[in-house]
Amino acid sequence: MLITRHAEAEAVLADTRYVPPPVRQDGAEGTLAWLRAQVSRFSTGEPHAARCRLLTERLATLDPAGLRTEARARTKDRDGAWRGVPTEVLGAALGVKDTTAVPAAAAGYLSGEESPEADAAVAELLDLADLPAITLLLQGHAAVEGLIEAALRHAEPGDDIDALLHETLRQDPPLQATRRLDTRTGDEVTIDLVSANRDPAVFDHPERFDLTRGPSAHLTFGHGVRPCPAPAHALALAAGVLEGLLS
Ligand code: HEM
Repeated sequence: MLITRHAEAEAVLADTRYVPPPVRQDGAEGTLAWLRAQVSRFSTGEPHAARCRLLTERLATLDPAGLRTEARARTKDRDGAWRGVPTEVLGAALGVKDTTAVPAAAAGYLSGEESPEADAAVAELLDLADLPAITLLLQGHAAVEGLIEAALRHAEPGDDIDALLHETLRQDPPLQATRRLDTRTGDEVTIDLVSANRDPAVFDHPERFDLTRGPSAHLTFGHGVRPCPAPAHALALAAGVLEGLLS
């Protein structure tokens, strides 16, 4: 089933009878499959709550304003070669000195696509960091870079960067859909975030890219039982890079 309306999307995301489609639990220790079986993103119930709590506690030790300043400085230092900057800045704040393995591990993290390269990258990260730090780096990597790419497509000279990011998140979300399993029927449900974020019942002139909207009721950071725990961190990293590029 495909969900496109904002109200229905919120209802499914707030209902504990809908869970993330289960991931395999029998991966060899230290592989991508094993990692996916350990993390909050793909777990439910009490394990999810406990794992998510650990991440929230870790995130609380990070200062979004500091991430923003650092992302801006590193982007400027590199003459605009911004790729990798958000992940490096987040890594440094989490005490992870080398984040070069993150893109290869992140590539299969959400999709579940296993490969020797992804397994090697996960093994490398496990030598450098604990599970909460790895989870945060893998969750954030592609989404923050995707947000920056999308914001750059919409940017006009003189734009307010925070307003640009809020409207980009609504109209051009880096994660375009999320899936759930209906535990009563076994049916899979896809929530189309692009359509929900353009639902005319919630957004006036939804097709208009309008910086005056400010933070809006978009569902790009999820909703309900298991929303993104790091919207402030994601926005800070993206804003810092955009400031380094545009100001
Ligand atoms: C623009 C950037 C980002 C977007 C759009 C985004 C979006 C999301 C969404 C939609 C979910 C929930 C998925 C679902 O309900 O199926 C999620 C979960 C999560 N995000 Fe983000 N995210 C972003 C950046 C980040 C960053 C930078 C971090 C880490 C610092 C992060 C950490 C997480 C974690 C750990 C979860 C899993 C939470 C749980 O289920 O317990 N995200 N994110």
